[in-house]
Amino acid sequence: MQANGKISVKRLSGALGAEICGVDLAKPLGNDSFTAIHQALLDHCVIFFRDQVMTPDQHVAFARRFGPISIHPYAAAVEGHPEVMRVFKEKEDKVNFGGGWHSDMTFLEKPPLGSILYAKEVPPYGGDTMFANQYLAYDALSDGMKKTLESLNAVHSANAQYGVDGRSEANKNNAKRSMKPATSEDAAEEVIHPVVRTHPETGRKTLYVNVGFTQRFEGWTKKESQPLLRWLYEHCAKPEFTCRFTWATNSVAFWDNRSTQHYALNDYHGFRREMHRVTVEGDRPR
Ligand code: SIN
Repeated sequence: MQANGKISVKRLSGALGAEICGVDLAKPLGNDSFTAIHQALLDHCVIFFRDQVMTPDQHVAFARRFGPISIHPYAAAVEGHPEVMRVFKEKEDKVNFGGGWHSDMTFLEKPPLGSILYAKEVPPYGGDTMFANQYLAYDALSDGMKKTLESLNAVHSANAQYGVDGRSEANKNNAKRSMKPATSEDAAEEVIHPVVRTHPETGRKTLYVNVGFTQRFEGWTKKESQPLLRWLYEHCAKPEFTCRFTWATNSVAFWDNRSTQHYALNDYHGFRREMHRVTVEGDRPR
């Protein structure tokens, strides 16, 4: 792996995503390298690195350059490394983790700035991750829809995923997967976020609802909210807003959780996949 000298950035699709070369993430990042990577993240919304060999501590040290670490309240960590979440699917499992469009942990008051996912073991085919650019999703709306959405807030919670309710995704899926996120009464707590948020660093507007955690519009019933939310979920993930990343062992993806959604494809039954994820804390959406 190269020393941290000249960094190059190569775009991967028309919508978002770029591959970064010329940096060893295991080494402490100099200010120039940090600035180049940070700018690439803001410009391309998700950035990818190949052939990185990092210990969990080095992974965390890289993430810490971008802010404090956010620990997932329901998913387990790598033993001895509480800040490194283990995302895995065993050969015999039928259900994966993250297999639907979502932004990470929008049930928190301060949802993450981003996550850094590191491939430890990948299947011989399949197991790609898709990403969707939520600036483009907002920009493509009509002026009338933009105006309507800008006056709305949405209620988010972890209940549908991690609630104690027997119908929560964790309760339905944990029997079919080895990765077993916890369920909790706390998952029912609700937070309010704007439906259109302004990115704190770029100043651009992004659409900010996701099928994983958005419950309803504030002041609307669930039933009233469903038709518009369903339309937005479909809109958010239009193919022209997306890119798709094919992993190899030691690949890294770093997504800006404020401007993207992602989807872990579950098309590799019979093979094992294991990733380590470190998530950086964000600020309150506005
Ligand atoms: C996640 O949603 O963090 C998992 C993404 C993946 O495994 O590709």
